[in-house]
Amino acid sequence: MAAKYEERAKTQGITLALTLRPSLGAVKGDERRLRQALEHVVDNAVRFVPTGGRVLIHGEGTHKTVRIVVSDDGPGIDSKMQVRLFDSFARFGRNNEGQASGLGLPLVRQFIEAHGGTVRLVSEPGQGTIVTLDLPRGD
Ligand SMILES: Nc1ncnc2c1ncn2[C@@H]1O[C@H](COP(=O)(O)OP(=O)(O)OP(=O)(O)O)[C@@H](O)[C@H]1O
Ligand SMILES: [Mg+2]
Repeated sequence: MAAKYEERAKTQGITLALTLRPSLGAVKGDERRLRQALEHVVDNAVRFVPTGGRVLIHGEGTHKTVRIVVSDDGPGIDSKMQVRLFDSFARFGRNNEGQASGLGLPLVRQFIEAHGGTVRLVSEPGQGTIVTLDLPRGD
């Protein structure tokens, strides 16, 4: 998965780092949807981080949970927008640059919650964004 973004990261001049702890573990479920959800979060980070920026994908596990954290040091998201990020209705009328993947954060949350997981987003304008995906371990 990372390989797909490495190329793009290179051409964009951003650093992409992947750290997977041995404790990570596995998740049972619809692999395609879970992958789409994670890829979308990475896609956002890579897309919004400017040249010279950094995107980190970190995976770790506890005995119950698989946690994947995607963080970046990009522009961040202002609080007014943050409250609407996961609201699928708020997306209507938004200009998706024509080239939108069509997934978006509302569907990311839907896919993750369908697997018993949670999605949290913490963002500070000018500082960056952290998205945490927690999923129940299935191994
Ligand atoms: N990592 C991030 N850094 C800065 N802004 C972000 C980040 N992730 C999301 N955003 C902001 O949140 C908005 C909503 O993201 P979302 O993924 O739901 O839709 P989108 O990326 O605009 O469109 P689509 O996902 O359909 O291509 C983005 O347009 C962007 O303004
Ligand atoms: Mg997006």
